[in-house]
Amino acid sequence: MQLDHRASPKALAAAIAASASARKWQNRGFSCDLMCDTDPNEANAGTASRELNDMAPEFLTLFKTSQIASGMVVSADVRGLRVAVANIGGTYYAFDDTCTHEQCSLSEQGELAHTTITCTCHNAEFDIRTGKVLAPPAVIPLKVFRTRIDGDLLQIEI
Ligand code: FES
Repeated sequence: MQLDHRASPKALAAAIAASASARKWQNRGFSCDLMCDTDPNEANAGTASRELNDMAPEFLTLFKTSQIASGMVVSADVRGLRVAVANIGGTYYAFDDTCTHEQCSLSEQGELAHTTITCTCHNAEFDIRTGKVLAPPAVIPLKVFRTRIDGDLLQIEI
């Protein structure tokens, strides 16, 4: 099975599932015309597994750590998404900058108190560690991102 490394993870998963399905039908004596270019006895599962492992989480650099003072929230555009990063005493938390209530910017309209950010537009509160809604009117949690420090660079997992 040939996997296109440029394909999205979703597309790769679909291709692998389709290939597994095709092998199942071959094994039952049916022919197929979908991704049956490999010997079903070949260790395709191992190949697919190795290729998926090549798709290790991708970390993107957003800021230098020196650009985010403790207690501060900053934001950056990441592939069409506005991501906010907060520095809480040297621990960095990354989350969707857009409030899930009515889309106010949390880096601009948010007030940070330890790991709780309050959207001052209508006072929804979120836990920036988990994205969990702590107070309405928002009901949908924020998306959060893993962070890591590489030297003096703050990176988030995409
Ligand atoms: S937009 Fe954030 S609470 Fe309404």
